[in-house]
Amino acid sequence: MTSDLKLLAQEVLEGNWQDGFTIPCKGLYPFQWNWDSGFIALGWAHLDMERAKAEFRSLLKGQWSNGFLPHIVFHNEAESYFPGPEVWDVGRSPDAPQARTSGITQPPVLGYILELLYEISGEPLLDFIDEIFPALYAWHHYFYTRRDPNKEGLVYICHNWEAGTDNTPVWDAVWEGLDSPEYELNRRDTQHVDASNRPSNREYQHYIHLVELFKSWDYDDVQIAEKSPFLIQDPLFNSLLIRSNESLIHLGKRIGKDVEVAQLQKWQALSKAHFHKKLFSEQRKAYVYFDLRANRRLDALSSSSFTPLLAGIPDAETAGDIVKTHLDKGRFTGVGPSYFLCPSFDPESPSFDPKRYWRGPVWINLNWLIYQGLNRYGFNKVAENVRRDTLALLEECGFYEYFDPRRDLDPGHFRGYGGNHFSWSAALYLDLIRRKAL
Ligand code: SER
Repeated sequence: MTSDLKLLAQEVLEGNWQDGFTIPCKGLYPFQWNWDSGFIALGWAHLDMERAKAEFRSLLKGQWSNGFLPHIVFHNEAESYFPGPEVWDVGRSPDAPQARTSGITQPPVLGYILELLYEISGEPLLDFIDEIFPALYAWHHYFYTRRDPNKEGLVYICHNWEAGTDNTPVWDAVWEGLDSPEYELNRRDTQHVDASNRPSNREYQHYIHLVELFKSWDYDDVQIAEKSPFLIQDPLFNSLLIRSNESLIHLGKRIGKDVEVAQLQKWQALSKAHFHKKLFSEQRKAYVYFDLRANRRLDALSSSSFTPLLAGIPDAETAGDIVKTHLDKGRFTGVGPSYFLCPSFDPESPSFDPKRYWRGPVWINLNWLIYQGLNRYGFNKVAENVRRDTLALLEECGFYEYFDPRRDLDPGHFRGYGGNHFSWSAALYLDLIRRKAL
């Protein structure tokens, strides 16, 4: 089975390769996406390092002059996605590049991935690291200088699509306070996959409303920070920033970037000084979200709540509490256990929906991040449970976008949802089968 699936994973990546970059999924996502490219590059690294490098180079063609790295680069024409480049209209910003891009970003996984490519390839990769390092440093510089209004080392996201976890119920409290116009939507996603597994139309109206606001401010960060109704410190986003800082520090030392390394170390210390204090919920025994606009915690649990382990945030005792409460025969496995790890939202919440995108289904990239975080702290047995569940889902269904976490489903119920032949599911499979319990 494993060798068939390995072959299929390679075919998925080959099939989605577009001469220079890889689309996440035909039809549904026909352009280059930012954090997808990171995970996809790791998959390519096991097959063909030149394609992994191309993935980075292509994405960086979309970088703005202020260091900002957008979440989509529209290299090609495609009618099958909404919102396209004409909706984003990023030419209003003086910082926008020649390339057509979106006007928001995505979780900064690229620095971390670059270090993993170095682990795979070793010294021959140093020239490439030298080439890419300045662009990734500029992106981190953008975050710390433009998206941290309180100077606490915790950067904000201004759009739910920036979180990666698009329609998590965490945002429901934000949408409740928002009176977005009832735009007529030209959605394409629901032409490709079952609408009941995607965000609702009302949610999409909020998503587009935010884009319209940013456009009206010409994507000016100062105005966004002052006025955006969505301004969140997200645990996953900040964990990846910190983990990528760590990687850039290691790599920067290796290639003699002393000035940049010193600056990254300062940002890193600031972030680490505030992350736990601000985002750890004693009551929930996990990390939660902070709504900067409303000055309140959004006290909900999602798979993002466990990603600070990857960034080395909790002390060993707290990490143990998190794992015991949620992941080791805990809240997120259910009794029995009743769920495959790791549901994307709290299975005990009334908002949990095992079929709808980020409101409950398992996602392969979050599992991979949680797996790496558990191993960092030496929770190798629980890490292996995450790996085993991930492989079981992929072996049962193939490379779908997300998966129903309920173990007991009616016979014949297919648990793979969203796009099929989904690139990061295939790419991370290729990485996970090479990793073993430590
Ligand atoms: N994931 C978003 C979508 O569904 C875009 O980033 O379009």
